[in-house]
Amino acid sequence: MSRLSHQNVELAQEIISRYPIKKSALIPLLHLAQEQDGYVADDAMAHIAELCDVTPAEVVGTCSFYEMFKRHPTGTYLVNVCTNISCMLLGGEELLRHVEDTLGVRHGGTTDDGAFTVEDYECIAACTEAPCLQVNYRYFPRITHDEFDELVADLRAGKRTDIPPHGTLGRVRQHIPAAKLAGVVPPDQVDGAPVWLANSEGEAANG
Ligand code: FES
Repeated sequence: MSRLSHQNVELAQEIISRYPIKKSALIPLLHLAQEQDGYVADDAMAHIAELCDVTPAEVVGTCSFYEMFKRHPTGTYLVNVCTNISCMLLGGEELLRHVEDTLGVRHGGTTDDGAFTVEDYECIAACTEAPCLQVNYRYFPRITHDEFDELVADLRAGKRTDIPPHGTLGRVRQHIPAAKLAGVVPPDQVDGAPVWLANSEGEAANG
């Protein structure tokens, strides 16, 4: 739905300037779009294509490759319930049914108030802590049905400020000092050592 805001266009241009080729900024800009809307909107992808001088199809191709980029409206809280083998053996399927019943939405869906999206997820690499789920990629290991209900109540009450809305990248924006930039010369046109290597060697020599 939405293109990048004026403020995010400025940030996008700063991000693009870090790379020798505009296209290299596609993934950070997709994160930026997801942070803006909670998902990557079609218009945002078209806007990113304009900013990076690529086709919209190239942006969609990159975006659709990565599971963590959502291309449909996603709840403020994305609940990923693992039902892979370890979790399944220890109640993962029952946990998913409980999550669906508690939130009133089947996996793949979002609650009417836009607060929660539920996903039936593959292994989230916490098999020794089964059954487990994630909320916006924060782990909740060996979670019971009652604990999940408490978690939902806390989220609805705004008590879990440690879990930012879906799409939020970090509390602190990355800033790369000019001396640490990789340089704006495309790799195939670099003559001699890349700028970043020369900078590092200079630092090492100066102790
Ligand atoms: S099977 Fe659930 S985390 Fe691996």
